[in-house]
Amino acid sequence: MSNILLVGNGAREHAIAETILRSKQNPGLFAFMKANNPGIASLSHKTIQGSYSDLAAITGFAQLHKIDFAVIGPEDPLNNGIVDALTTIGIPAVGPTKSLARLETSKSFTRNLVSKYNIPGNPQFKVFTAIDGVEAFLKKLESIVLKPDGLTGGKGVLVQGDHFATKDEALKLCQQILKDSSSVIVEEKFDGEEFSLQCLCDGKTVVGTPLVQDHKRRFDGDRGPNTGGMGSYSLANHSLPFLKPRDVEQGLEITRQVAAALLKETGSPYKGVMYGGFIATKNGVKLLEYNARFGDPEAMNILPLLKTDFVEICRHIIAGTLDQLKIEFEPKATVCKYVVPKGYGLPTDHPDVTSSKAKIEVGDVGKARLYYSSVDKKEDGLYLSSSRAIGIVGIADTLEEARKIAEEGVKAVKGPVAYREDIGTNALIQKRIEHMKMIRK
Ligand code: GLY
Repeated sequence: MSNILLVGNGAREHAIAETILRSKQNPGLFAFMKANNPGIASLSHKTIQGSYSDLAAITGFAQLHKIDFAVIGPEDPLNNGIVDALTTIGIPAVGPTKSLARLETSKSFTRNLVSKYNIPGNPQFKVFTAIDGVEAFLKKLESIVLKPDGLTGGKGVLVQGDHFATKDEALKLCQQILKDSSSVIVEEKFDGEEFSLQCLCDGKTVVGTPLVQDHKRRFDGDRGPNTGGMGSYSLANHSLPFLKPRDVEQGLEITRQVAAALLKETGSPYKGVMYGGFIATKNGVKLLEYNARFGDPEAMNILPLLKTDFVEICRHIIAGTLDQLKIEFEPKATVCKYVVPKGYGLPTDHPDVTSSKAKIEVGDVGKARLYYSSVDKKEDGLYLSSSRAIGIVGIADTLEEARKIAEEGVKAVKGPVAYREDIGTNALIQKRIEHMKMIRK
């Protein structure tokens, strides 16, 4: 039996925990969590709560329980150097070192790497550490995206049309960003359809997993503020309805080249998940950003479909032998819907924001799977926090069946909650297909 440490406390980590426990190797699960996730706790031998910046607490917990290897869920502990700290005490991990996690934690590092190694997919971009030259570069771009360097919890990217209208406003925002961040990346904005390609990497070999489309906007019809993701879907053929086979191949090829460039640049193999946020455009597939971890919610779409033993996959990632393993997923469609507090993502003065911290009841979710995220389990029941509460996943042969299962499951959660009804519906999928057809014309 191997003892596995899981770091993380969200629905993504609940799905990872479940996938670890499906292993035939009968692993023992030990979880280090920032907040108590009742789902992860129910699957673990032992849990402990602490801060992801307290590396001594994490390594101490790992040593105490004779951990064989660790799986790191979120980006914060990666950015804090948890993999380096575990490696120092002889515990390997699925997750990159602090330096390699710059793939996610430094947008300028990744843009410069992709440029330096002539990898396709970058937009026109420039990194600025001071405001000089920003105005001239803004003038060259038709449409603009601004990114502060560093981790921003998914909320730092500013997009023309959504967050600002004019180039003057963009310039002012750059001045603002440079007050808090070491640099700002000014990029060309693409028009197209976004998709998530989560790849497993052992430093040399890159293996793609089923493609997923996330829904960032808070409300149906892609309206309202951006969130951490309100839900996602995937198809039984492991592609997406608006993509062509060459789009998928381009995304994979970019990721393969980036993995090779990371090895050349740093001398160290990247071991973990390379989650590419891509966009299909009229000029092919472009890279929006990389994350150094599974997506949340996207992990909930792909991990339940995994046929290959996840513990074995982790061992091959650590050993650098992924090329020797056949990794397979069930040919099923999935729909994930996040149940969120009614006030989630809304301005703090919005009347619905008072619904945070309220009590919820979870009834029978039927055929759906349930993954806890930010909920607080007290003696008298389950309470909301201010963030996404529960991921509900439907899995079936067709997208429509999967959507119905997820929809039924969502209805079992009672309280001041909300979710997006349109995720996985035929109407929304058709909208994506039509958008892409128009772009490719
Ligand atoms: N699905 C967005 C993220 O995981 O960052």
